Amino acid sequence: MTYEQLVEAATFLKDKGFVKPEIGLVLGSGLGDLADEISNPIQVSYSDIPYFPSSTVKGHKGQLVYGELNGKIVIAMQGRFHFYEGYSIQEVTFPIRVMKELGVHSVGLTNAAGGVSFDFTPGDLMLITDHINFTGQNPLIGPNDEKEGPRFPDMSQTYDREYQAKIKEVAKRLNVDMKEGFYMGFSGPTYETPAEIKMARVLGADAVGMSTVPEAIVARHAGLRVFGISCITNLAAGMQSNLNHEEVVEVTQRVNQTFRNLLKEILKEI
Ligand code: HPA
Repeated sequence: MTYEQLVEAATFLKDKGFVKPEIGLVLGSGLGDLADEISNPIQVSYSDIPYFPSSTVKGHKGQLVYGELNGKIVIAMQGRFHFYEGYSIQEVTFPIRVMKELGVHSVGLTNAAGGVSFDFTPGDLMLITDHINFTGQNPLIGPNDEKEGPRFPDMSQTYDREYQAKIKEVAKRLNVDMKEGFYMGFSGPTYETPAEIKMARVLGADAVGMSTVPEAIVARHAGLRVFGISCITNLAAGMQSNLNHEEVVEVTQRVNQTFRNLLKEILKEI
């Protein structure tokens, strides 16, 4: 994906009314409903945006929603692109670049994830404090365009520390028992094997999933501030009897209201 393509996509959205957004939100599996609370929304289907791929996974709507949410101008991705869908890793992360070009200063990344930590139960929310890129991919491989970011980005503070502190405060205020930990990104689409989950735990992971890591990398490359929240939808492979996508969606729906309230309060604070 070239810089010119991203400018073209951003210009298209500006013409639709996407002006002066502050925060980008990527709403994961089953978590997209939050975008329905955006006031005076402008909705644009991914398939209409130049160079955007279109979303294929069940439980993903596939549109950008622009508007006001709790006093902030946001762009929400209702559904995201995953590497396992067959898109290039540059396509997967293209929307983050477009949001940056439109002017957001921060992005919030959300996802459904499997719990690796023995302290987690399905339905928990986990503040992502760091990640392990185990996808075998990196969206920054290839020529680097200095207009977009540095060749060797520092990943010492991928998930903004100040935001983490604020999010913990908000969770406390709302009485949400927010967990925290490291998210380990796999390519999918298979769920992990029990042996891989043992490995993940040894390597320090608290949760595993198939998204977020590439987006966080590109966001940091672009100089955006990042926060991440996982909805723990299941215990990871080997820790419960079996895994399926229906359960993942069901659990995200169960915690939907808590998740929405939390995210709206977070928006106020950042
Ligand atoms: N593994 C990977 N991705 C996931 C999981 C899991 O257990 N649950 C939800 N997304």
